[in-house]
Amino acid sequence: MSVDYEAVHESYDRCLKDDTFFDTFYDLFLVKSPEIPPLFKDTDFRKQKQVVRVSVLMMIRLGLGEPQTREAIEKLGEVHSSRDRNIRPELYDLWLNSLCESVKQHDPEYTLELEQQWRDTMQPGIDLMVSMY
Ligand code: HEM
Repeated sequence: MSVDYEAVHESYDRCLKDDTFFDTFYDLFLVKSPEIPPLFKDTDFRKQKQVVRVSVLMMIRLGLGEPQTREAIEKLGEVHSSRDRNIRPELYDLWLNSLCESVKQHDPEYTLELEQQWRDTMQPGIDLMVSMY
């Protein structure tokens, strides 16, 4: 199946129609592993939800091949690397699963096929971040 960025972008717009998408996301993500909550112990979640909202859009746009988008994700990879926040690569699967579960809850047009499009769209950005670990 080829990646349909437009379909994922439209799905993301539907998810963001109400303001609670990233509330759902962090509710799901934080309980995926006991390793996760301590990493966010000093986090201002109001701010975090705003910046993650923008970064998911960047992840979607990575496939368009714009150099600024790639640089922004590399910067994000540096923040998550062993030199900074030390986010173990295994945790990205939990992150992506939480994102897809949130899409399922918030996008009225969710299908399994759309979820696969989401996964295929996010994976190159995740691979890029993990490669910088
Ligand atoms: C591709 C997946 C991910 C994206 C797009 C993403 C996005 C972001 C963004 C935009 C920030 C703010 C960076 C900054 O302040 O400069 C951030 C911070 C952070 N992320 Fe991620 N993240 C991802 C995966 C993960 C995973 C798997 C974890 C594991 C627990 C994680 C834990 C954190 C933590 C602990 C912070 C710092 C929060 C703070 O400032 O207190 N992230 N992330």
